[in-house]
Amino acid sequence: MDKFLIKGNGRLQGSITVSGAKNSALPIMAAALLTEGESVISNVPHLADIQAMVDLLGDLGAEVTHADGTFRVQVTDESSSFAQYERVRKMRASICVLGPLLAKRRSARVAMPGGCAIGSRPVDLHLRGLRALGAEIELEGGDIVARADKLKGAEIFLGGPFGSTVLGTANVMMAAALAEGTTVLESAACEPEIADLADYLNAMGAKVSGGGTPRLVIEGVESLCGTTHEVIPDRIEAGTFMIAAAVTNGEITLENARIDHLLAVVDKLRQIGASVEPSNGGATVSSARRLDPIDVTTQPYPGFPTDLQAQLMVLLCLADGNSAITEKIFPDRFMHVAELLRMGANIRKEGPTAIVTGAKRLIGAPVMASDLRASAALVLAGLIADGETTVSRVYHIDRGYEKIEVKLRQLGANIQRINES
Ligand code: EPU
Repeated sequence: MDKFLIKGNGRLQGSITVSGAKNSALPIMAAALLTEGESVISNVPHLADIQAMVDLLGDLGAEVTHADGTFRVQVTDESSSFAQYERVRKMRASICVLGPLLAKRRSARVAMPGGCAIGSRPVDLHLRGLRALGAEIELEGGDIVARADKLKGAEIFLGGPFGSTVLGTANVMMAAALAEGTTVLESAACEPEIADLADYLNAMGAKVSGGGTPRLVIEGVESLCGTTHEVIPDRIEAGTFMIAAAVTNGEITLENARIDHLLAVVDKLRQIGASVEPSNGGATVSSARRLDPIDVTTQPYPGFPTDLQAQLMVLLCLADGNSAITEKIFPDRFMHVAELLRMGANIRKEGPTAIVTGAKRLIGAPVMASDLRASAALVLAGLIADGETTVSRVYHIDRGYEKIEVKLRQLGANIQRINES
């Protein structure tokens, strides 16, 4: 198991190129199961979760090759439609093979994902949507077993107690692409990753309209073909580096970033006192002043993303006053709080809200990563803390940030990866 050793050394300065979006690439790779043609998907980040998807696609009869971030996926054998627990346990996004398998092969067996460090993560909305298309779904031995001789378009409401569902929308949209007739998805997720998936499906010959809005209309087609597609830039990686600029009082230029996907984040950073200057194909974020406290609530897109909540908390740990962060997507996603307390942060939890009182400084300490975004937050905390911070269990961060320590060193950070084995 690797860990990071970080020596806090102030300002980060320079430019980095944002990688392709993990959360776009994963469902898009799963969608390649909808065709026997070759899918060529570029701008795919090199990450543990992507490798997990490659392994899963291999189990499901696809040959996958890659070079320089371009993945070629070709299904050669449709005999196994079983996503085993060993795979799903390692990566929850494995659930998004369910819709494509059901639509293309008429049956699927996908292990039911369990909870994870960010809370309980049900898939009832995925199943409700697929059932509405005509699938018969049962739970057998911890696996979701789904069958459908024929999927038929339907009107489906996909809202749940915490808003819509990103991967649930992806699953139902992929299945509906090959269903007979028209499907209308109301309260669909509006995340850019869903719009990217809709673009990819349309390039395969699907008829999806409304991608990126709460109402998706999908006219089913008989078959889909192979195509080429470039994955959008990762807005969460970009947002993490924007916060890194603000928290270190530095200046970071992001290349290959979609600032239009980050407007809520830009708004909050400006309220805190950072400067965000959009440029051609990216933005420059800087801060050279004290940070103002703010209140923020995580929301479905286009609201402030839950995937940047932990990183923003680190920034607010240094603001001049009290901030409130309310988590409305995953109310238990606060594992990083206890670790930040070990570094001298002043945070009080009240239900789904964390009250953060700005401290003068954070102090380096050994801390433990619990999930992907919490790990990124601990790395940010290490960058500004006095002394040394070790972040253990960085396999979490390797799931979703491509070469994070290389990119941070490029900006002047003192961060080393240490192999403990
Ligand atoms: N929910 C239900 N029923 C469902 C599905 C979801 O009640 O059937 C609830 C969840 O418990 C949660 C809310 O709806 O309260 C939203 O969950 P959603 O289904 O949208 O999450 P997801 O699709 O499983 C994706 C991202 C997450 C990101 C969330 C929210 C991928 C691979 N994962 O998960 O990303 O936090 O959307 O934006 O796209 C990450 O990258 O670190 C990460 C966790």
